[in-house]
Amino acid sequence: MSFVTRRKALPALGGGAPKSHGLKPTLSWPHLVALGVGAIVGTGIYTLIGVGAERAGPAVMLAFVIAGIVCVCAALAYAELATMIPESGSAYTYSYTTLGEGAAWMVGWSLILEYTVVCSAVAVGWAGYFSGMMEGIGMGLPAVLTSAPSQGGIVNLPAVVIVAAVAGLLVAGTRESASINAALVVVKIAALIAFVAIALPHFNPANLKPFMPYGFSHGIGAEMGVMAAAAIIFFAFYGFDAVATAAEETRNPGRDLTIGIIGSMVACVAIYIAVAVAALGAMPFTDFMKSPEPLSHIARTVGSDLWATLIAGAAVVALPTVILAFMFGQSRIFFVMARDGLLPRGLAHVSERSGGPVRVTAGTAVLMAIIAGFIPLGDLAALANAGTLVAFASVGLCLMVLRRREPGRPRVFRAPVWWLVGPVAILGCVYLFFSLPASTQINFVIWNVIGVAVYLLYSRRSSLLNG
Ligand code: ALA
Repeated sequence: MSFVTRRKALPALGGGAPKSHGLKPTLSWPHLVALGVGAIVGTGIYTLIGVGAERAGPAVMLAFVIAGIVCVCAALAYAELATMIPESGSAYTYSYTTLGEGAAWMVGWSLILEYTVVCSAVAVGWAGYFSGMMEGIGMGLPAVLTSAPSQGGIVNLPAVVIVAAVAGLLVAGTRESASINAALVVVKIAALIAFVAIALPHFNPANLKPFMPYGFSHGIGAEMGVMAAAAIIFFAFYGFDAVATAAEETRNPGRDLTIGIIGSMVACVAIYIAVAVAALGAMPFTDFMKSPEPLSHIARTVGSDLWATLIAGAAVVALPTVILAFMFGQSRIFFVMARDGLLPRGLAHVSERSGGPVRVTAGTAVLMAIIAGFIPLGDLAALANAGTLVAFASVGLCLMVLRRREPGRPRVFRAPVWWLVGPVAILGCVYLFFSLPASTQINFVIWNVIGVAVYLLYSRRSSLLNG
């Protein structure tokens, strides 16, 4: 078997990780639903809804529906695979056992990009609400310290600081972090419900006309239209995959992961559609699309300053849960790739005290902080989406391959109509990928060229499957 197609064996049911590098099973399903919602609801709905409206007009609602359908299909595939292969690494591990080492490496390399850049993107979105709130109370920071160089600033300092703060929380220990996360998730959801309650009474159908001012699609790499918006709005939906990366730390993977992934996804789709309808009906999209804090802006216009400040405050307090969840997932991807020998083994070091990979968490946080300080939100979100789309497409493919190759293997959760769910996930991700801006596609290709070089020069030989 060539090194590209060699595969790891599917785990024996009930089997776990090797003891020497095992993570402590400390989580159960309420933690996972909180981790899922904590990872999903963030900068996508709080900030990128404006960017999406700029590209699609009121039809950004349609973009939410399209991205949501692709993500629900991907979530179903994830749930089936996460319960069949309850090991850290999510899409990377599923690809390794199903498609082979070459595909697994590409997926892992894409996930590293996704998790890193998502943390940075959300930090920048958070900084937008934070800066607005500080300005509101007369303590605004100088503009050069709140934006990236390409936007006329020096560094986005609040974004750097929040990455460092969340890394500190995570290093303090998984269980404690997950519990704080659960409380903050409640704040974040309450703010969105409050927003809908404030904005919906001001619904004016005239604000939705014309519904699709920039058309549906303008081809590969185009920046306007419903598909261009869907390719960005996709950012708002993912995060449930961070739940799957916690598989090894889950007490009862079969039940906990199914409830964690499907439950958090369904809850978020419902909330998003409500927020999008309320926002777009409340005022013309051109009035809020460029705001760094669109939901507060709308609440201020149709409600009051107090409501705007409360929503901003909730975003400031609770958006870090997204960073927390992705940082958690990120360190686990490094951990499991190192355990497989594809990255240096030192990255698989687990701290005795917290039971988590502390060194890796701290190291990657430095990188996330630098990226957050110097690159604008739109570019970061698009790049994170590119990596995620590759991972989701691969999970759809794994679902289909395993249904054919291992039809009799027990499945704790079976995705319904898998022959439809798999292709919709795969083709939907491909379509969304080509709807990303051309510059993002090029940057993603560069990242993967580097990845292929690392694989051929190092990982291929150091892999545990080598020899
Ligand atoms: N879905 C996450 C967010 O919107 C990444 O922030």
